[in-house]
Amino acid sequence: MTDIIEEQIKKISRMLAEAKHAVVFTGSGISAESGIPTFRGTDGLWLRYNPEEVASIYGFKRNPAKFWEFAKELIVKTKASPNPAHYAIAELEKEGVVKAVITQNIDMLHQNAGSKKVLELHGSMSYVDCLDCGAEYEWEYIEKVLEEKQPVCENCGSEFLKPRVVFFGEPLPPDVLSEAMEESKRCDLFIVVGSSLVVYPAASLPDMAKRSGAKLAMVNLEPTEKDNIFDAIVYGKAGEIMPRVVEEFKRLRYGEG
Ligand code: APR
Ligand code: ZN
Repeated sequence: MTDIIEEQIKKISRMLAEAKHAVVFTGSGISAESGIPTFRGTDGLWLRYNPEEVASIYGFKRNPAKFWEFAKELIVKTKASPNPAHYAIAELEKEGVVKAVITQNIDMLHQNAGSKKVLELHGSMSYVDCLDCGAEYEWEYIEKVLEEKQPVCENCGSEFLKPRVVFFGEPLPPDVLSEAMEESKRCDLFIVVGSSLVVYPAASLPDMAKRSGAKLAMVNLEPTEKDNIFDAIVYGKAGEIMPRVVEEFKRLRYGEG
């Protein structure tokens, strides 16, 4: 890794070693190395799908089949599993320095990597509800059906089976959003991993943390329009950088190596 990257990794590790209450904020970029496509940046999903059609509540109510086709690419085809970046963050929570993960992702990879406190701003695919009769389905069941065809309600035959994710045009879960805002105000270190920081209200959280006096760090493949508010930035792949950050953090904390 280049000297600049190494120097910024060391800077972020020092910030972690001094932090009392660190929060990690993640976007689709952290799951890229798990095989899940990102939305923006090089070959982002929004270059191939129209978010209005496949990820808005209006589009869903017009044609749920389009959403399920998109969902197949987003989640099922990849049978994603956590990558070293997810495990690194779970380890920082075990070390007691990261107190919460705030994620925009719906892939549940943070939980699968062992993170306990995960605030899912955009919900997750864990459950799917029938909008017509209220029947509830677990994701595992839907994932199986989706391999063959578009899922429909077994109870009433409706095709309006909607996962508990936040579509464009829907409000974020108020309790999750307020807790995420609380964490952003309370933390003394806010680390963004893999987000373009363009979708609100999620993208307002780094500014909220900054205004409350927190230090800001970022690990992202490409620059974002908010880079200027960050105290430390590493441009690179989360799956490579985050394990190095943990390694450095442990060296500082335990004097290893
Ligand atoms: N490591 C680190 N960062 C990466 C990697 C990687 N391996 N691969 C891509 N990135 C970066 C990209 O450079 C980009 O800046 O991750 C960011 C992903 O940005 P987006 O695709 O816009 O994802 P995100 O910020 O999560 O989008 C927010 O938009 O479409 C909605 O609801 C959707 O939750 C999503 C929200
Ligand atoms: Zn039904």
